[in-house]
Amino acid sequence: MAKAAAVLFLVAALLCLMRTGDAQRRFCGKSDITFLVRKTGKVVGSQPEYVVAIETSCSCPMKDVRVWCGGLEDSAVPLDAGKVEVDEGMCVLKQPVARGSPVVFNYSCEVPVNFRVFNAAPDC
Ligand SMILES: *[C@@H]1O[C@H](CO)[C@@H](O)[C@H](O)[C@H]1NC(C)=O
Repeated sequence: MAKAAAVLFLVAALLCLMRTGDAQRRFCGKSDITFLVRKTGKVVGSQPEYVVAIETSCSCPMKDVRVWCGGLEDSAVPLDAGKVEVDEGMCVLKQPVARGSPVVFNYSCEVPVNFRVFNAAPDC
């Protein structure tokens, strides 16, 4: 029984690997945008400060990136207007996200912001 489970796990892992490889070879999309959020350790206006790096592993730069980011408008840390603009819970990135050059900015929030990609267009 344990053996069967191990084999199933291996097959699933292999399938997963194959699909990732496939996606990278063909084209990139919304799912190729990732968010790396860390606390900076500072507290601003009683809210912890975070730094977020919006990254892509895609070989094409991603433009027109829009991200759901409800709560970010309440940041006590002023957002970098050259990088991001918040419009009704939607973050509009002012710069493309390219491999090796993520869009990085700071914000503060009481509850964690749930970043989810709404739009991203590979620019190849
Ligand atoms: C974010 O905040 C940290 C600590 O306050 C600061 O060192 C860093 O330069 C800031 N990063 C950006 C991208 O503004």
